Amino acid sequence: MTAPPPFRPGRRAVLAAAAGLAGAALLPRAAGAVAAADGAVALTAGPARVSLVGPPHPQTTVWAYNGTVPGPVLRWRQGDTARIAFTNALAEETTVHWHGLRVPVAMDGVPHLSQPPVPPGGRFTYAFTLKDAGTFWYHPHANSAQQVGRGLAGVLVVKEREPVPVDRDLVWALSDWRLTREAAVDDGFGHPMDASHAGRLGNTVTLNGAIVDAVPVRAGERLRLRLANLAGARVFALEFRGHAPQVIALDGHPVPPHAPDGDRVVLGPGQRADLMLDLTGAPGERFDVVDSFHPRQTYRLTSLVYGSDAPVRRSPSDTPVVLPANPLPPLDLAGAVRHDVVIEGGAMGRLPDGMAMTPAGPFWTLNGTAPMGHAAHAGPPLITVKRGQTVRMGFVNDTAWWHPMHLHGFPFRILTRNGAPSPREEWRDTVLLAPREAVEIAFVAEEPGDWMLHCHVLDHQEFGMMAVLRVA
Ligand code: C2O
Ligand code: CU
Repeated sequence: MTAPPPFRPGRRAVLAAAAGLAGAALLPRAAGAVAAADGAVALTAGPARVSLVGPPHPQTTVWAYNGTVPGPVLRWRQGDTARIAFTNALAEETTVHWHGLRVPVAMDGVPHLSQPPVPPGGRFTYAFTLKDAGTFWYHPHANSAQQVGRGLAGVLVVKEREPVPVDRDLVWALSDWRLTREAAVDDGFGHPMDASHAGRLGNTVTLNGAIVDAVPVRAGERLRLRLANLAGARVFALEFRGHAPQVIALDGHPVPPHAPDGDRVVLGPGQRADLMLDLTGAPGERFDVVDSFHPRQTYRLTSLVYGSDAPVRRSPSDTPVVLPANPLPPLDLAGAVRHDVVIEGGAMGRLPDGMAMTPAGPFWTLNGTAPMGHAAHAGPPLITVKRGQTVRMGFVNDTAWWHPMHLHGFPFRILTRNGAPSPREEWRDTVLLAPREAVEIAFVAEEPGDWMLHCHVLDHQEFGMMAVLRVA
């Protein structure tokens, strides 16, 4: 094995993802969450010191849930009621948002819009019933670019009612960090250069909070791999060299098992993909997992390293894993109301007439509006629909940049891309729009309340790309 490249700050140091720490951190650091008195899970956001890049580099001060990055994997079963006793041990206000879960609006964790922000030292108990099985995540919704960028994020798994036949079920939480030479989180949040371009891209990618050289596997195994992109800006396109993963769920919701388009699993910020991965290699073999989204900055995320044990089974099972559908409300496309959301702005773009880009923002608009910061959302909603209504929404990305558009509260179906029917009409909660792309989605506005619609590139969100959908 070649010596691991040194950790280097700077764009190319994303290569640090390929560095040492053999075999470490296959599992998230926190084996589980702490149970509070009343059966609730105790979750505390606060500063912590962790070894992100490993020796010889110093530890990194992060903001963490229960002292680890990512936070503990929270696990329940479909139909359970989750109770989370949250404590804010940060020096600033925060909230917790349950990304992708169908919860009542009062549990949605958006400051001012769905709850008062939790002050330093404050507490808030979140409680909701888990309607859908799948891979979800949680993160703050206050000062998001900085709070997520410093480490506050974790994966939430809702198990199916009946166990799914796989040998192992693994979470791979992907995070992206901008670190200094001393392995400290770079303080320069909200930089106009990031906010008007692709967002704050880091220089170090971690897998479950560490640089993981090797993931040990056994020949013949069938894995369920839950990939979650917790990064504030980075898009991943993962290639599993020598393997043929099948995508079985996107953003938590089952899809007919299929090979990823172009043999790359593309994950925009906030997105998840569940893969079924048959380990078809032989004992002793090693295969790289590579992120090639930025073709000139392709790097090795980790490697699948086969142990010397005899294969678990002779030939891989040929029955695909088909997950049971979640109980999503049926769409009434014939009776749908139509709403369009046009995205403008960004570097090499323009804002609508009468608006100017200043170094303080805004840089982006949705239908010509550009609220800055969450407090601005006391204002009028961008779109109002009736409860129970099917909404057909058309996004038009009139910019030169990628945008993962996320809607709170309502999983949506992807109907068309650039006018062509989407082959699988998958359900998602975040849709990645390529530059100049147009996408149509549809959803049922089943829960009343004010819900956020925003870009999940967190600097874009804070510099204009957010809006409110009111369901009345
Ligand atoms: Cu993952 Cu509004 O957020
Ligand atoms: Cu964006």
